[in-house]
Amino acid sequence: MGACSSCSGVQSALDPAGEEARQVAQLFWHMVIAGGFIWLIVVGLLVYATGHGRAAIGEHIAGRLIFWGGAVIPSLLLFLLLGYALWLMPGLRPFARAGETGLRIEVTGEQFWWRVAYRLADGSAPVLSANEIRLPVGERVEFLLKSTDVIHSFWIPALGGKMDMIPGRENRLSLLATKPGTYRGPCAEYCGTSHALMAFTAVAMERGAFREWLATRSKPSAGASLPGRDFFLRNGCGACHRVAGTKAEGSVGPDLSHVGSRETIGAGILPADEEALRSFIAHPHLIKPGSKMPEFSMLPQQDIAEIAAWLKRLE
Ligand code: CUA
Repeated sequence: MGACSSCSGVQSALDPAGEEARQVAQLFWHMVIAGGFIWLIVVGLLVYATGHGRAAIGEHIAGRLIFWGGAVIPSLLLFLLLGYALWLMPGLRPFARAGETGLRIEVTGEQFWWRVAYRLADGSAPVLSANEIRLPVGERVEFLLKSTDVIHSFWIPALGGKMDMIPGRENRLSLLATKPGTYRGPCAEYCGTSHALMAFTAVAMERGAFREWLATRSKPSAGASLPGRDFFLRNGCGACHRVAGTKAEGSVGPDLSHVGSRETIGAGILPADEEALRSFIAHPHLIKPGSKMPEFSMLPQQDIAEIAAWLKRLE
């Protein structure tokens, strides 16, 4: 598939790593092949019709040609295609039928980031996170999709179809990852200034590794008690952000309990390193216009550096 650069990679619906995405890709390729076949027939007829030295056909034959070629066959093909697409659909429906349990991941669209909460089947306290979603391979996961402000749209092209996040509603989408890997999910509905800067990382992990990862995420990070914490708390960061194991209990902004181990910061726009963290703390609006986070460029450089270094150690 070297001729088609968008057919592979971390954000391609044509390089499926999940059951739903495989069905979408299959439908797409069948439609491309069938469409290409019909196009060849039509072009062939056109070339034939414009050829020189060909006797004109009678009105009766022309009428039959239009009836079959212009009405009956296209309608039949469209009905077949519709039937095929409907046949594929049950797999795309949520698994929230009565009695079914499993991992549920609640994702809420915010301006312009993703609030994430893992709800376990055993009813224990949800594990909070942001801007990164991890899920086990070979296990169906249900996403509960919400929004607090405007319509956003949740989409991991490599794993399945998209679903809108609508204020006042809870939409459900189930996905089954089949291939471990790191994929990218964009916001697929225009939601404001930084819509194009609203993305997340989706990591499909082997079951055992996923359980282990989730167990460590349900506890405070070992880095939480390091001295950088005091700079974070003293400058009021805890009013908006939560860091488990500290007095920072804010819930306006992203949960930062394990931010140091995420692959990106700012919802998929910068690498999660200290330099990017320093830039984001000082100038969130330059990096993400319209973000609700205030500028902290007035803080002493030393404080910003200490906070960034501490955040990076929250693994
Ligand atoms: Cu959120 Cu577009």
